Amino acid sequence: MKFKQILTSALLVSALAGTSAHADITLRHALLGTELDMSFAKKGGDTPAFKEFMKEGRNPYNTDKAAIEQGESLYMTGCSGCHGHEAEGKLGPGLADDYWTYPSIATDQGFFEVLFGGANGMMGPQYVNFNTDEMLKIMAWIRSIYTGNPKKAKWLKK
Ligand code: HEC
Repeated sequence: MKFKQILTSALLVSALAGTSAHADITLRHALLGTELDMSFAKKGGDTPAFKEFMKEGRNPYNTDKAAIEQGESLYMTGCSGCHGHEAEGKLGPGLADDYWTYPSIATDQGFFEVLFGGANGMMGPQYVNFNTDEMLKIMAWIRSIYTGNPKKAKWLKK
């Protein structure tokens, strides 16, 4: 290939990358490892915060007080019945400590994957009840009440 051709194709590739809706991270089902089908997502969740999350798998709401408050009330409607009002555990495990059945929960990406895609038994896919933006808010609230070892809080690490 001539230099000019290489340059043209390189420009073309970067132009395509810039315009495509393709995300930088790939979300997978926590148990099956298969790629999550985001076409199941409820409308309204494709917010700037969710787009940001899809770049590196980090939840921008973790430091957002208003989002954390909204996450708390969403949690009370959709999760507290099984996980307890303080996420202390009930039918489902406690969520505020650093013991996780799925160790990937220590990262925001892993946490989101369990929420969107579900896990075993009664932990069904949460896309039925919440859009992706709401899931990030719920996650941020759960992070905010974390009682575990700070060293295990991988979502805080750069
Ligand atoms: C119908 C009951 C039920 C509801 C509603 C529910 N969960 Fe669960 N959840 C469970 C059960 C049971 C498990 C254990 C499943 C497993 O081990 O695979 C679980 C597992 C989890 C886990 C994995 C915990 C770990 O230790 O790895 C997370 C995180 C979680 N749920 C978060 C949520 C959030 C957030 C919501 C609300 C959006 C929610 N769940 C709604 C029952 C529920």
